[in-house]
Amino acid sequence: MSTQPALLEMRSVTKMFGGGGLRRTRGTLALDEFSLSLPPDEPSIVAIAGESGSGKTTAAQLVLGLLTTTTGEIVYRGRPTASMSRSERTAFRREVQAILQDPYEAYNPFYKVEHVFNTVVRSFGLAHSVAEARRLIEQALEFVGLRPAETLGRYPHQLSGGQRQRIMIARAFLLKPRIIVADEPVSKVDASIRSMILEIMPRLKQVVGISFLYITHDLSTAYQVSDDLIILHRGRVVERGKTQEVIDRPQHAYTKLLMNSIPVPDPDVRWQGRLDLLEDIAAGT
Ligand SMILES: Nc1ncnc2c1ncn2[C@@H]1O[C@H](COP(=O)(O)OP(=O)(O)OP(=O)(O)O)[C@@H](O)[C@H]1O
Ligand SMILES: [Mg+2]
Repeated sequence: MSTQPALLEMRSVTKMFGGGGLRRTRGTLALDEFSLSLPPDEPSIVAIAGESGSGKTTAAQLVLGLLTTTTGEIVYRGRPTASMSRSERTAFRREVQAILQDPYEAYNPFYKVEHVFNTVVRSFGLAHSVAEARRLIEQALEFVGLRPAETLGRYPHQLSGGQRQRIMIARAFLLKPRIIVADEPVSKVDASIRSMILEIMPRLKQVVGISFLYITHDLSTAYQVSDDLIILHRGRVVERGKTQEVIDRPQHAYTKLLMNSIPVPDPDVRWQGRLDLLEDIAAGT
């Protein structure tokens, strides 16, 4: 066992939206005593899966510091994010990156892709010269299968959704973060871009050592990429474990239900237990 602190921990995190106050209205309990841990010594991909409204994005935004916890804490490499020093926070912002569902929202429509990348290189001091900056940027774009010459001079609206999504990944790659929080990164792209992005994640894990929090409503993509799987239902964890084990032997009816909503079973090995499952569900177990 490692004595290092976890790379990232969410410790009994609860998030309540609204509610309370003098009239004691009931708020929405978006996340209820939620915990997770990413190991410090080897990169891993942890998937958080659940249906719409189960609290997935809330968990992602709490990690990214876009929301604050109602109770509980987020701890990055042993340091609670709520009490980080300025320099720790700067490091955290570089080391924990996001890839979101709709990358268009992340872009300033008035800036070309080139500007986005140059800003990243400059503000994080990634290169010592213009030539080095250029090389890093081109390398990052090529990593996600984009041609620098065709991409850098464009504005966000001149790119397809899949290209914008890959640029977000290239931006994250450039920063060599420790963690990428990916909230439904493939739900709005077509099948070929989806499989490309799903292949890039394990490659980033292996080649660069990046860990992922992969958030999805779709168990088949979670199965494809993740090492560990957490099933969320109405803000609560109903099941967690090694992805293979959860999928092979789902314990909770809700997990079975999510598996049942997978559209097309892959005939190779993947969903061998699926027919039994359908029978279980039909029998009401
Ligand atoms: N800013 C907010 N104010 C009030 N309620 C919110 C807010 N954000 C989320 N919620 C509520 O918290 C719950 C969890 O929402 P969340 O966005 O985390 O779900 P999700 O699992 O990401 O769903 P989806 O798959 O649709 O993206 C929902 O009931 C939602 O309505
Ligand atoms: Mg969401």
